[in-house]
Amino acid sequence: MTQSGSAHAPRELVEALHQFARWSPGPAEQVRVFFAPGRVNLIGEHLDYNGGLVFPAALTLGTWAVVRPRWDGVLRFASTTFPGEVTAQAEDLAFTAADGFANYPKGALWALAQAGVPVQGADMLFASNLPSGAGLSSSAAIEVVTAAAMAAFADRTLPAADLALLTQRAENEFIGVQCGIMDQFAVAAGRAGHAMLLDCGTLRCEWVPLHLGDARVVITNTHHTRGLADSAYNQRRAECERALALLREVRPALRALADIPPEEWPALESRLTDDVLRRRARHVVTEQARVREAARRVAAGDVIGFGRLLNESHVSLRDDYEVTGPALDALAEAAWNAPGCYGSRMTGAGFGGCTVSLVKADALDAFEAEVTRAYQAATGKQPTFYVSDAGDGVHEVTEEAMRVWPSW
Ligand code: GLA
Repeated sequence: MTQSGSAHAPRELVEALHQFARWSPGPAEQVRVFFAPGRVNLIGEHLDYNGGLVFPAALTLGTWAVVRPRWDGVLRFASTTFPGEVTAQAEDLAFTAADGFANYPKGALWALAQAGVPVQGADMLFASNLPSGAGLSSSAAIEVVTAAAMAAFADRTLPAADLALLTQRAENEFIGVQCGIMDQFAVAAGRAGHAMLLDCGTLRCEWVPLHLGDARVVITNTHHTRGLADSAYNQRRAECERALALLREVRPALRALADIPPEEWPALESRLTDDVLRRRARHVVTEQARVREAARRVAAGDVIGFGRLLNESHVSLRDDYEVTGPALDALAEAAWNAPGCYGSRMTGAGFGGCTVSLVKADALDAFEAEVTRAYQAATGKQPTFYVSDAGDGVHEVTEEAMRVWPSW
């Protein structure tokens, strides 16, 4: 069944407010509520840490933080998903494995303090309608919403790029995942109705209106999870670094793999005698060209051309970058053969998580039925579908939330 992310006062928020009112009694006027979206990367996979262009969009699904400030320096974290609470001192934030999800907000506050923004005590309750561990940036969403909320309590408005950089630092140094900048940037800087053509080398971003004609963006969850930290993600990064180092022997000025123009690739690829390194670099070069073309196709409203690029991207991620795996391949193939599908590919880090497909609006039901049938036949698993518009980046929603604040 399709889950839509655009309902007013979503159930998850209403439940969170009720839980918060019981858990953190006190005047409602002190409470502020913030929302950070998840993101879907439309195309440009594994390019952010290769200095390339990516093309994500923020979703309308995401994570809320309900926050009441405290004046005793104590931080309390709770969630509508996980039982119990985690406490910490605002002055002393360290990673503790036993703290589970709370390490994400702790890490964001640690990075905020490192950036010179005062971190005070607070009660923070999180709620989400974003599937976690599904490659839709649920961790970036909770990091960014935490940092934005605390910055607001400190009367500081941080530019989206700063928010993205400091939460990426939280992920890299506090959590220990060597992710690039794409997720945090998309979550911080998204704009409704737009995708972001982000140059990860310079952080220059162009917001491109999503002209998709009769098509909708459909995200489909494989329900096959594989953590980023223990996955081949860091290995792919290391392979790209090795390939870059080898290519720099002939091109000392080469800044990043994504800077290799496609027309120069045939002359360079023979420098990579290791087949694996050559294929990793080839994915980066060809994917970069696809991103540029995709942005042009979207701007021109050419969904057929855009869809074809999605398919080519998946094949490159499957054969050259090797980050798909049986579940994602089965889901993408099911989509390719389903009615109304312009194109489909894995999105995010890979190995599990979601695909993103471009589907004719009037064929959504038939698409879902056929993909479910084929994916189930191949894997025995049931996929979940999310039809989401492109949403805004992190923002405060206190006014909207207070309309549904419990009146008891
Ligand atoms: C994960 C990382 C991102 C990016 C993608 C792959 O989502 O967090 O930085 O590298 O994988 O494109």
